[in-house]
Amino acid sequence: MLGLLARTATRWGLPQPSRLVKPMTVLQMPQRPVVHQEGLPKLPVPPLKQTCERYLAVLEPLLSEEELSHTHKLVAEFVRSGGVGERLQKGLERRARKTENWLSEWWMQSAYLDSRMPVAVYTSPGVVLPRMHFQDRQGQMRFASKLIAGVLDFKTMIDNDTLPVEYLGGKPLCMDQYYQVLSSCRIPGPKKDSVVNHAVGKTPPTHITVVHNFQFFVLDVYNSDGTPLTVDQICVQLEKIWNSSLQSNKEPIGILSSQHRNTWGKAYNNLIKDKTNKESVRAIQKSIFTVCLDAPMPSVSDELYHSRVAAQMLHGGGSRWNSGNRWFDKTLQFIVGEDGSCGLTYEHAPAEGPPIVFLVDHVVQYMKRTEEVRTPMIPLPMPQKLRFNITPEIKKDIEKAKQNMNIMVQDLDVRVLSFSHFGKIFPKSQKMSPDGFIQMALQLAYYRMYQFCCSTYESASLRMFHLGRTDAIRSTSVESFAFVQAMDDPAKQNTEKVTLLEKAIKVHRVYADMAIHGQAIDRHLLGLKMQAIEDLTSLPDIFMDTAYAVAEHFNLSTSQVGSTTDCVMCFGPMVPDGYGVCYNPMDNHINFAVSAFNSCEDTNATKFTRFVDYALLDIKTLLEQTPRANI
Ligand code: COA
Repeated sequence: MLGLLARTATRWGLPQPSRLVKPMTVLQMPQRPVVHQEGLPKLPVPPLKQTCERYLAVLEPLLSEEELSHTHKLVAEFVRSGGVGERLQKGLERRARKTENWLSEWWMQSAYLDSRMPVAVYTSPGVVLPRMHFQDRQGQMRFASKLIAGVLDFKTMIDNDTLPVEYLGGKPLCMDQYYQVLSSCRIPGPKKDSVVNHAVGKTPPTHITVVHNFQFFVLDVYNSDGTPLTVDQICVQLEKIWNSSLQSNKEPIGILSSQHRNTWGKAYNNLIKDKTNKESVRAIQKSIFTVCLDAPMPSVSDELYHSRVAAQMLHGGGSRWNSGNRWFDKTLQFIVGEDGSCGLTYEHAPAEGPPIVFLVDHVVQYMKRTEEVRTPMIPLPMPQKLRFNITPEIKKDIEKAKQNMNIMVQDLDVRVLSFSHFGKIFPKSQKMSPDGFIQMALQLAYYRMYQFCCSTYESASLRMFHLGRTDAIRSTSVESFAFVQAMDDPAKQNTEKVTLLEKAIKVHRVYADMAIHGQAIDRHLLGLKMQAIEDLTSLPDIFMDTAYAVAEHFNLSTSQVGSTTDCVMCFGPMVPDGYGVCYNPMDNHINFAVSAFNSCEDTNATKFTRFVDYALLDIKTLLEQTPRANI
């Protein structure tokens, strides 16, 4: 997992050596989560002057001198004593005193629930798991059964409050996101969405939903004595589901959830007018999670295999393939294909990637441990098939959703690169932060492709704080720009290039530390803007300035999501002419997933991965050819 992010079984606050926790054997303390959560610090509001100064520094490599001098004036006016900035800052500080987290609700609304873009591709990430070597239905069923049992094992830790607390830089992290990912679902609205979490209701669900050939089933995963079904029991139930969903001519009702949110919001209200449909939708929403048993996808070369799986995780491959085999609003959907492809997609509103991959790591470990023991079989009832009455209007909505999905599929360019020359051990041997090293390679790749640098976003965890989510590390800096310019400059000596690289990585690490301690600029600026929307009649000039739009236009949207499993998370670009880059640095190799849109002439995911590959290798060669006193 995350380098600094250590997981330790803890007696609330007392870290113990890291180990795999057996859910049923750890002492249960009823008030544990509450005590832990309430002990976490509140997210601070950074000083106004500090954010303004850092905002100007971030803009420096992105703007011309003239543009920069204009923005300097606007910022000076904003930050002056008695000015509008001070007033908004006071409002924010008041909000911080009154709420558990001044940011979390605004963030949830603005980043997720107000967004009208489809969740598929635009916000929901996918996770690509290593290829499984089953090639048939039996293998698929067995694998899916173990996976389900593994997730239920993880759920036991959540239910028993025995989930090990995570640590970042020695500080305990907020564990709230783990309580939001099971039994939850996004609900579309014609103007804004919401998220419902059934885990906290009076009757928490005991079922999952399984979808095969576009047909949804309720699968009860607990015996009457409350114990989870065994792998064998689950397997028998999955066989029954498979056998009663053989026809593939059913309407792909789930594809509706891939639509633009306003469109889906309207179609949803129309869909649930019918009582049967409403009950079926509710069963999906309430289920603990969904398992999608996918049909085989078109085969591709070994080289392209993981890229194809990444696309399958992000959108299902289109209406002819598995895009109708999803309920995109469901928080967690595990995907197991008959051809050995597997992974998951998750709806982003309730959680970030790290808790999801921690769950994946647990499930993968669990699956390795699971013995092939035959359990005595007590006959179980047939899983209930969810019925949908398809009116002509719903049929029309489905056809529209199919068309739009196919356009989206055509538009997404996604490439997985398994960079095998070295992993995080190499930068560590050079006394460099592996994350900073990778970020500088991304900067170099981008600069070499475009001859300029762009606004870059890297997710940083705010989970040191109560209900913390993320802020952004600004990886493009004056120092990173100096390094990438120098790298291919024949007039520069290698020693100078190395010095510039060291400086750029150090500056990145400093910003990363600031970000995880709640001192980055992006969420603070968002807070000031939201406060202005609440308090003022018009937005202050700094938010109307072109520079602000430039700063917020993230052509490179990046994230490290590390795991012990050899997997990679993937997500779509943030802007039409940008790249989404997610990476998992393992000890001796690095997995990357790069996405772009085909409709943008200037971007190309395959080309970018090639540039990343060269950049990493060139930086390594540079370091190896340049002796340094401290190495
Ligand atoms: N010399 C030698 N080793 C170094 C080093 C140096 N100069 N700097 C760092 N290292 C080591 C670290 O100690 C760590 O060691 P470990 O593997 O033994 O734990 C390792 O290198 C990794 O550190 P680094 O590469 O600097 O990054 P990180 O693991 O601290 O991660 C972030 C940085 C920003 C990615 C992380 O703090 C974070 O916030 N992650 C969350 C991202 C997120 O939420 N993404 C999801 C969005 S959906």
